[in-house]
Amino acid sequence: VKVRIGGRTRDIRAVSMDARGRVVMIDQRALPHRLTFVRAETPGEVARAIKDMAIRGAPSIGAAAAYGVALAKMKRRPLAPAAKSLKAARPTAHDLFFAVDWMLARIEGGDDPRAAADAYADAIIERCRAIGRHGAPLIDDADKVLTHCNAGALATVDYGTALAPLRVAHDEGLDFFVWVDETRPRLQGARLTAWELLGEGIPHAVIADSAAGHFFQRGEVDLVLTGADRVARNGDVANKIGTYSKAVLAKESGVPFYVAAPLSTFDFATKTGAGIEIEERDGDEVARLGSERLTPRGSPVSNPAFDVTPAGLVRGFITEYGIIRPSQVAALERRARFGPFSG
Ligand code: MRU
Repeated sequence: VKVRIGGRTRDIRAVSMDARGRVVMIDQRALPHRLTFVRAETPGEVARAIKDMAIRGAPSIGAAAAYGVALAKMKRRPLAPAAKSLKAARPTAHDLFFAVDWMLARIEGGDDPRAAADAYADAIIERCRAIGRHGAPLIDDADKVLTHCNAGALATVDYGTALAPLRVAHDEGLDFFVWVDETRPRLQGARLTAWELLGEGIPHAVIADSAAGHFFQRGEVDLVLTGADRVARNGDVANKIGTYSKAVLAKESGVPFYVAAPLSTFDFATKTGAGIEIEERDGDEVARLGSERLTPRGSPVSNPAFDVTPAGLVRGFITEYGIIRPSQVAALERRARFGPFSG
């Protein structure tokens, strides 16, 4: 994540481990106005940061959990309860479960815990860079690209999934424009994606979620790029609430809808989207805006954090192995293995 500190641009990771063995996470709840950090010294504190969304975005959640497992081992705590509490932090992002199991296997195999967690984070970043290279050719000069939530550097340790092709295309000198869905209720688009695109100098405008249909109808969206929290074996995709309605609009308007995700997000054990647990979060996220209450006291609120986009609405998945069709997802299981990645 490129940030300006004391007049200098520095590249910092959304999550890492410092010299004192603490897990350091950019507190994404304070952005875009304040750059502050959460420092966790126990697996329980990492689990809390994931639950409270100080750290968020499927691959960043996975990397934070990897460091959480490393902390348990470094502090000679039993691994099983630490793994259990980390996995209980949020239910939908597959990366969380994948990262914890990957770390347990590494530690079992005798790897140094800190080095293993660093290798996990490095692998995610390399995989995101490959996603950027594979996805960039989808973007044409003068395109208007719509994205939902934040699938940028903050969500992926560094670099991004859905935002990675945009970075590459921008570096190649293409002139395009991004519609940024605000992404109620937590506003990851308005707060985080807008902040990242501004930092990169990529032209964009934030729109209310409810404005998207208007721009599709006017022919002002050429491509949709989103991330994913979990992809089922048949290509159904769970992603931030509001993704499904954008996929329906894309279909109705004849606009290609692509999902960018690394191997850690693919859940080959879950057959279809119907098997994906959808997190239900506190109703206050919807009922309140900051400290202000919006809804009448007594009006119940429903707040699912994710929805499922059926495979039939997805033109393709941009992975580190290239762009694949939903029908090719199951085959990835045989072909791909997680670990260091050079493309
Ligand atoms: O609730 P969040 O902010 O963790 O949800 C994040 C998303 O839905 C992202 O689109 C997804 O994790 C992909 S991030 C590369």
